[in-house]
Amino acid sequence: MEKPLVAAYNRVSREAREKLAETCEVRYFEQSETLEDPVFRETMAEAAAIIGIEYEVDETFLEKAPHLRIAANVSVGYDNLDLEALKARGVYASNTPEVLNDTTADAIFGLLLAAARRIPETDRYVKDGRWQNTLPDEYFGVDVHHRTLGIIGMGRIGEAIAKRARFGFDMDVLYYNRSQKREAEEKYGASWTALEPLLEQSDFVCTMTPLTKETYHLMDEAAFRRMKSSAIFINGSRGGVVDEEALVKALQNRWIRSAGVDVFSEEPVPSDHPLLTFPHVVTLPHIGSFTEENENNMSLRAAENVLQVLNGKKPQDQL
Ligand code: DGY
Repeated sequence: MEKPLVAAYNRVSREAREKLAETCEVRYFEQSETLEDPVFRETMAEAAAIIGIEYEVDETFLEKAPHLRIAANVSVGYDNLDLEALKARGVYASNTPEVLNDTTADAIFGLLLAAARRIPETDRYVKDGRWQNTLPDEYFGVDVHHRTLGIIGMGRIGEAIAKRARFGFDMDVLYYNRSQKREAEEKYGASWTALEPLLEQSDFVCTMTPLTKETYHLMDEAAFRRMKSSAIFINGSRGGVVDEEALVKALQNRWIRSAGVDVFSEEPVPSDHPLLTFPHVVTLPHIGSFTEENENNMSLRAAENVLQVLNGKKPQDQL
């Protein structure tokens, strides 16, 4: 019997590809190819599954992939998948929740610390040979411990961040979420609030919400104006959750102190993006889940989703 064809693209681990190759034909594209690429186009005309990070799967794409049975993201975020279009064609969609929680929480907490204590800036200061005398006051950081962290989007990664904040740094945790998370409240002393008080009371505001129609530009000018002028904004979710122009304005006008950004509305971020012009703002290339071990775990989880569908089952992480 002919093996089903799986299109793997953009960082699906070798182990996951080998696992798939036991029962499938796997074609691997190292980057996210577009349908302009003839080999990718031909592959999609035949493929039963596509697996990888953040490929835009919409109606136009699906028209070119008539045999597709599953679009399996190697990410927890799935704003790249048009779920309605997929459903209308009976194509499964899946993501990789849970496996990345601690890895991503580590990175986002690291980003918060880096922005608060100005770690990248002072690292450059040393390497540039400028550390000749006492560090000037302009390089002062701010304390993280015993401050208030406001988490927007208390999903599993949000909770892992709350845990670090509470037990590692004695922080008070506020959260804004569609539903109340009683377990997180009990475990981490987190308090469920409306968005406005969270913005007004937090020393660190961290967005961890998925990008949806409802959360698009949730952090707009009005939101930044509500924040304390001493507060630091962290985005660990998706670029689209933030109105980046408003963030730039907030930084220029010092409505907020600083920011740490792991995700941008356009990725890779263009080199002339105004957010890259603030030396004290920490900017990362979407590394939340980016460790070798975690990427392999996510890839294996996505591969399982693919194999479940190709074996006639529902994917465990069906969206
Ligand atoms: C995720 O899993 O959504 C991470 O942001 C990587 O895309």
